[in-house]
Amino acid sequence: MKFSYVNPTQIHFGQGQIAAIATSIPQDQKVLVIYGGGSIKTNGVYDQVVAALSEHSWIEFSGVEPNPTVETLDKAVAIAKAEKIDYILAVGGGSVIDGSKYVAAAAKYVGNGWDILIGKHAVTEAIALGAILTLPATGSESNAGAVITQKATQTKLPFHSAAVQPKFAVLDPDSMKTLPERQLINGLVDAWVHTCEQYLTMPTGAMVQDGYAETLLRNLLTLASQYDNRDNNEWRSNLMWTANQALNGLIGTGVPHDWATHMIGHELTALYHVDHARSLSIIQPSLLRNQIEAKRAKLEQLGKNVFGLEASDDLAERTIVEIETFYHNLNSPTELTEHGDDKLSAIDSIIKQLEAHGMVALGENQAITLEVSRQILEDAVK
Ligand code: NZQ
Ligand code: ZN
Repeated sequence: MKFSYVNPTQIHFGQGQIAAIATSIPQDQKVLVIYGGGSIKTNGVYDQVVAALSEHSWIEFSGVEPNPTVETLDKAVAIAKAEKIDYILAVGGGSVIDGSKYVAAAAKYVGNGWDILIGKHAVTEAIALGAILTLPATGSESNAGAVITQKATQTKLPFHSAAVQPKFAVLDPDSMKTLPERQLINGLVDAWVHTCEQYLTMPTGAMVQDGYAETLLRNLLTLASQYDNRDNNEWRSNLMWTANQALNGLIGTGVPHDWATHMIGHELTALYHVDHARSLSIIQPSLLRNQIEAKRAKLEQLGKNVFGLEASDDLAERTIVEIETFYHNLNSPTELTEHGDDKLSAIDSIIKQLEAHGMVALGENQAITLEVSRQILEDAVK
């Protein structure tokens, strides 16, 4: 283990905490409030933002879509530049927060913002950013990552920079009350896979990271089992905090990471508009079976410590079945069906995109070549 760790995002957690933005954003800052398709106007979040910013000078930009596109976000970049914005307040789910990170960075750059995604511009400077989270899933509210889509080329790419990490994040579980079931389930699944991507690799003896990852996985399992009784503050609070902790950097310190499920999943979203979390439940079981020998020890550890399974020669295999059952119980798919009826050409398209995006050696051992991705897809595409 060797690492430097800081998470500088101040968390305001709990009911009524949106009011905290009044003091978290300095009063002399000109604010751009960014949000999505308008869900915040149906659950009182927008009204609370307006009340909290009553002493600030602010304008707004709406219409950031799920899987935010650079085509839409560049309009906000132009506004941020023209209006000399000092502070961006992202209000929404992962898409709005990721999109706002892009706007914050691109507004400080003279070139084409897409350069950030293709690695042509390394972000070292950005407009200050704060977030109000309305959909627990991605962890974007307190991490330095963002995933942006270029609609024209069906390209979905991530970027990371400490400069875009939110200064603060408000996590008020009440804002989840209007979440459609599908999005709530997406949150459970995304947080599950985030934990797996940083845990299901190889044994490292990192007791803190492993132990905390297992706690988060057990939480998600428990919350899924209590799904029918989810309409209460305790359930919502536990999901919101668990999803945040799954991708705020802590469990990933000093240990190997995988992220292959995410990288292949991003192509399913870019090509077939599959929800992010659903792309993960489609790919992960097939990927785990494909990589079972490399991951056997950690799968066994997960089976024992999270699912409570007894030891056996096929413990790793049974653990994958349990993960699949977890997805099925939540009605999250484990096979791609959105590809039309030509399986072979769908797989070809996905492989072509992976190649174009340099995703040719994925996973903790860089063992997932295009040929291996093709095998994984063979089992995951119906
Ligand atoms: O646009 P609005 O009207 O807000 O509606 C959204 C959207 O339609 C709706 N919603 C959000 N909060 C709501 C609500 N509806 C009712 N009540 C509420 N309280 O939910 C829909 C989906 O929102 P979205 O933000 O797209 O979902 P999510 O949070 O799952 O974000 C997914 C995006 O995050 C990226 C994904 O790739 C995807 O683009 N990720 C970002 C990561 C990061 N920055 O660290 C890591 C993740 O692995 C992920 O890749
Ligand atoms: Zn994810």
